[in-house]
Amino acid sequence: MPEMRILMEHIEQPDQFRIDTYEKNGGYQAIRKAIPHMAPAAITDMVKQSGLRGRGGAGFSAGMKWGFIPKGTAETKYLVCNADESEPGTFKDRLLTEKNPHQLIEGIILACYAIGSSQAFIYARGEFFQGIAILQTAINEATQKGYLGQGILGSAYHLDIVVHPGAGAYIAGEETAQLNSLEGYRATPRLKPPFPAIAGLYGKPTIINNVETLSYIGHIVNRGAEWFQKIGTPKSSGTKIFQVSGHVQRPGCYEFPLGVPLREIIEAAGGMLPGRKFKACYPGGSSCALLTERDLDIAMDFETLAARGTALGTASMIVMDDTADMVKVAHRLMQFYQNESCGKCTPCREGTRWMVQVLARIEKGGGTLSDLKLIDQVCKSMAANSFCPLAVGAAPPVVSAIQEFKGEFEAYIRRNPHCDKVPLMKIAYPYL
Ligand SMILES: Cc1cc2nc3c(=O)[nH]c(=O)nc-3n(C[C@H](O)[C@H](O)[C@H](O)COP(=O)(O)O)c2cc1C
Ligand code: SF4
Repeated sequence: MPEMRILMEHIEQPDQFRIDTYEKNGGYQAIRKAIPHMAPAAITDMVKQSGLRGRGGAGFSAGMKWGFIPKGTAETKYLVCNADESEPGTFKDRLLTEKNPHQLIEGIILACYAIGSSQAFIYARGEFFQGIAILQTAINEATQKGYLGQGILGSAYHLDIVVHPGAGAYIAGEETAQLNSLEGYRATPRLKPPFPAIAGLYGKPTIINNVETLSYIGHIVNRGAEWFQKIGTPKSSGTKIFQVSGHVQRPGCYEFPLGVPLREIIEAAGGMLPGRKFKACYPGGSSCALLTERDLDIAMDFETLAARGTALGTASMIVMDDTADMVKVAHRLMQFYQNESCGKCTPCREGTRWMVQVLARIEKGGGTLSDLKLIDQVCKSMAANSFCPLAVGAAPPVVSAIQEFKGEFEAYIRRNPHCDKVPLMKIAYPYL
C-alpha cells in the first residue's frame, strides 16, 4: 500500500508555515466555504459522517464528541487543542505544529464555529519552544488576514486563540488534568462524569481534541465526508501519521491509510538496521501491549489492534530488533510511569514505584521466580483500581513483555542463586 499524504502533503515545503504559502496551496478555502454559508450543525454532521476518530489515543468519534455540547444556550463554550505530546514514541503533533501551523488553525476555526465557541486554547508541551513561537506568529498572521478575531470573513462570528505552554508533565496531556493546568492548578485528573463537553474549562462546556484530529477538519470540509470515509477501513477511516522510532533505518513520520500492514510501515521506514531482525514493536506509543514477529502482517487500525489485545493509540511505533533487552525495556518504561504518576491515587503512585523496584532487582540479578507473578498481580490491580488511564497504560507494556519474552526475564532471575526463595517484598506486603 503506498503512502498517502493528506496532512503531510506539503510538509517538506520549507515555507509551508507561512500564511502566503499555505494559501497558495489551497489553505483557508474551507473556512471560506463554511463561514457563514454552512450551519454549525452541518459541519458537526459532516465530521460525524466522515468517521474521523480522535488521533490523541482513545480513538473516540470527533463528530459525536462535538455533538455532546449543549445546544440552544448562550453559555460560553471552549475548545482546547491538546498539543502536550509527551508519551514515549510520539512526535507527530510537533511536526504538524512546526511545519503546518495554519492547517491546525484552520481546523480549530472550523471546530469552534461548529460548537459555537469564540475562545480556543492550544495547550502546547512546554518544551516545544520553536512550535510555540511558530504557532504564535501564525495566529498573528491569521488575525491580520481576518481569519481570526472580530467578524471573521465579514461575518458576525469571532474567535480568539491563545497558545498556552504546558508545565512539563505527561499527565497534563490527560484531558481533565489539562483543564486544571489551564486554570492554573496542578495537573491532576478530574473525576468523570461530568465530562468536559458538559462541564470543562472553568465549568463551561469544552471540547478537547488532539492536534492531528483538528488538522483533518479543513480537508474534510473541503473534500466532503464521503471522500474521507472511503479511505482506510470502515471503522477506522482516513489516513494516520505513523511515527516510527527505534531500530529502523529511517525513523520518522509516515502517513498511510488506516489498516496498512505493520510490515509495510517498517519497510517505508527503510526496514530494520542492516543485519538485524525484527523482534517486537509497541504499535501505539508506550502505553500498549507489544506486537511480535507473528504480527508483522497485522492491519494497523483501531479495531484490529484492539482485537489483538493492544491499541493503535497515537500510532507511535517503537520498533525493536533482536538486540533489544526486554528486561531493560520493561524497567525503563516503568521508570517513566513512576516519574510521571501525578501521585493523586495510591495504586498508581505506589504501584509504579514498587514495580520499578522489582524490575530493578531482576535486572541486577537479585530477582526471584515469584517476582513475575507479583508483577502481573500488581499491574492488574493498578490498572483496575487507579483513578485515570495513566496507570491503565503503565501495565500492558510490562505485562506483555513478560508474556512474550518470559525466557529473557527468567534468564536474568536465574542469575540469583536464591531465586526460588520467597522475596523480602512478600514479608513487607503479607496481604499478597
Ligand atoms: C496520561 C495521558 C496523557 C495523554 N496525553 C495526550 C497528549 O499529549 N495529547 C493528546 O491529544 N491526548 C493525550 N491524551 C488523551 C486525552 O486525554 C484526550 O483523550 C485527547 O486529547 C482527546 O482528543 P482526540 O479526541 O482528538 O483524540 C492523554 C491521555 C492520558 C491518560
Ligand atoms: S492513576 Fe496515576 S496519574 Fe492518574 S490520578 Fe492516579 S496517581 Fe495520578
